[in-house]
Amino acid sequence: MNFHVLTLFPEMIENGMNTSITGRAITKGLLTLEAVNIRDYAFNKHQKVDDYTYGGGAGMLMQAEPVYLAYEAIAKRTAKRPRVVYLTPQGQVFNQAMAREMAQEEDLVFLCGHYEGIDERVLEEIVTDYVSIGDYVLTGGELPAMVMMDSISRMVPGVLNNQESGETESFAGNLLEYPQYSRPEEWHGKKVPEVLMSGHHANIEKWRREQSVYRTAKRRPDLLKKADLTNKEWNYVRQLRKQWKEEEEQTK
Ligand code: ADE
Repeated sequence: MNFHVLTLFPEMIENGMNTSITGRAITKGLLTLEAVNIRDYAFNKHQKVDDYTYGGGAGMLMQAEPVYLAYEAIAKRTAKRPRVVYLTPQGQVFNQAMAREMAQEEDLVFLCGHYEGIDERVLEEIVTDYVSIGDYVLTGGELPAMVMMDSISRMVPGVLNNQESGETESFAGNLLEYPQYSRPEEWHGKKVPEVLMSGHHANIEKWRREQSVYRTAKRRPDLLKKADLTNKEWNYVRQLRKQWKEEEEQTK
């Protein structure tokens, strides 16, 4: 996977990505990272990349030409014209399925905006995917680009070692992960659930699955619609909902 990031703050991207698991994957050559400074493609006296918006209004806008030239310089070096992800709160909200799908690409370009955004005309010409990382507004696209690259990287073969990738994950089947415990056996008066100490693998699996269903029903009920539950599990969910409703009415 080759990541290319168009940004006004390349050192922010490099510092973030060269750390921890993504850093290890870059060192191993499983990922490459190129942070391109858009300012290097502003061929005017002061390397200016922004200007006032036509029609008035607050703030400055990133101009089309430097962004376009920076992208074209990348596209010239890749086998085919790569997908361009523009980070914007106006995009489709990022999720695990998108991470999995984007991990199949050879090259991905992330375009990070600043100020009040980017001239619409260059977006029309180069952007293939408009993506948001959630319904809140950040100061720029760098953190969202790093969030996406981090989760896409995990889906690239070899990036996680066996132990890391062997874990059952949240969202695997649209269910959240079950709770986990390590030593000591008792902490702050709380004991590790008995079943986990039993060594009985079938019972442990059964308990974990039930915990996943419980957690998802409690914390992210919106995910259950897409989860693959058995009839028995649906009955369990209905029973939980009934119980929670009764408890809620009691506290009123
Ligand atoms: N740029 C600013 N806010 C953003 C968000 N929530 N997602 C993606 N890009 C952004």
